[in-house]
Amino acid sequence: FQVPIPQNEPVKEYRPGSDERAKLKAALAEASSKTVDIPMYIGADEVRTDAQKELVAPHNRHQILGYFHEGDQSHVEQAITAALNAKEQWANLSWEHRASIFLKAAELLAGPYRYKINAATMLGQSKNAYQAEIDSACELIDFLRFNVHYATEIYSQQPRSSAGVWNRSEYRPLEGFVFALTPFNFTAIAGNLPTAPAMMGNTVVWKPAYQQIYSAQVIMEVLKEAGLPDGVINLIYVDGPLAGEVIFKHPDFAGIHFTGSTGVFQQIWKKIGENIHQYKSYPRVVGETGGKDFVLIHESADPKAAATALVRGAFEYQGQKCSAASRAYIPSTLWDQIREYIVADLQAIKMGSVEDFGNFVNAVIDEKAFDKISKYIENAKNDPTVEVIAGGNVDKTNGFFVEPTVLVAANPLYVTMCEEIFGPVLTVYIYHPDNFEQTIELVDQTSPYALTGAFFAKDRYAIELVTKKLSNAAGNFYINDKPTGAVVGQQPFGGARGSGTNDKAGSLLNLYRWVSARTIKETL
Ligand code: SER
Repeated sequence: FQVPIPQNEPVKEYRPGSDERAKLKAALAEASSKTVDIPMYIGADEVRTDAQKELVAPHNRHQILGYFHEGDQSHVEQAITAALNAKEQWANLSWEHRASIFLKAAELLAGPYRYKINAATMLGQSKNAYQAEIDSACELIDFLRFNVHYATEIYSQQPRSSAGVWNRSEYRPLEGFVFALTPFNFTAIAGNLPTAPAMMGNTVVWKPAYQQIYSAQVIMEVLKEAGLPDGVINLIYVDGPLAGEVIFKHPDFAGIHFTGSTGVFQQIWKKIGENIHQYKSYPRVVGETGGKDFVLIHESADPKAAATALVRGAFEYQGQKCSAASRAYIPSTLWDQIREYIVADLQAIKMGSVEDFGNFVNAVIDEKAFDKISKYIENAKNDPTVEVIAGGNVDKTNGFFVEPTVLVAANPLYVTMCEEIFGPVLTVYIYHPDNFEQTIELVDQTSPYALTGAFFAKDRYAIELVTKKLSNAAGNFYINDKPTGAVVGQQPFGGARGSGTNDKAGSLLNLYRWVSARTIKETL
């Protein structure tokens, strides 16, 4: 009874003069013409509070997109109660009906809601049209469809029986509620984290990052239109630590599906540890966190391909990707060529508003991010061991703009070679080709993270060596490609070390985490 493996949703190109570009422009104009009022969604209720907070467009801080209603701990309690009340009916609904809701949501996103959700992601999270299309349309649609497929693979896994004995496995949802704590940088991830556990019969309290609330509401609208029953996913906007105080102390807390910073994830583990004695079951803790993703280049590599990968890997979506290329190790024999390509590419790239489709680089998410990234750049400019070879300018007068910046560090342990910046800053270390093997060691040892990494080479022995030696340095390892842009169903995504629990988003592995199996042996 498996649902066949889906095709990935085709990516629209928004070419000048195309119908799809006109529709996306119309959706942007429509969104910009009004401010939306964004309630929380708890059970059957749209909840409004007196604490209304504005959402601004990162590329134009004077443009108010809407107001959301912030909640407090009482709303967290209400959301948990709504999730628990909805649980029995939802868990008992046969999987086909749950699947049908999520497949319908995917259809709505692929059709009537595509431009609306892309416009919301562009304006609210400062992604350009092509990046929004890949994220909030294609990747989110893929998550919904592939999760249904993987769910049916799980349900069909059955043990062997023998003469006189019938063994069977039941894949039940977890006992309690699941907490989805979601990031600003991918609308698709924000949509996947609550819907994957829900597909497996769980009910969910969903707290998005405040910077993503604008597109989160569109996801909720789509799920409701697709027929998601009240209380299955409850969307609340409450300060993270305050929400955590209620959630992690609750005896029915069954698991967390998280994407965000390593620091927050570690706090969550501690909170769960402190409260472990009062839960009914050991909670599932599934998280994808930071990265300090490497690009290692061998002297046999194609310098043009490597340079293009560095520019795209480091600067698409302003480097605000946990997978972004942020440290590069380049042999001195190729450096001049690669440098020329990078500098030429960056000169050709335009930065500005998301509404101009010619802009490759847009704003970083908010002032806090802007200030943090600017500080790294400022310090680098003042450091005599670091050379700025491109970018380096920042401006927050109207929006939070940081130029794509390339640094060359003489010290491979320089701070921007080791710390996650989450912005458009690439640091290069130039190594002598004789030191290739030491450089591999360096890549492995200088990061507490292990999310993504890329290796460029034509030499097959070098490819084999690096693939083996760096086997623990990245959960997603790319040979002759940029370290970003994993596609659901093709490159299951996630990493270990400080980068998370490596439960691979949008995979069988991930969905297994949201069920608690019961084995039944019946003697016939
Ligand atoms: N999945 C994204 C990528 O691969 C990051 O979250 O770039």
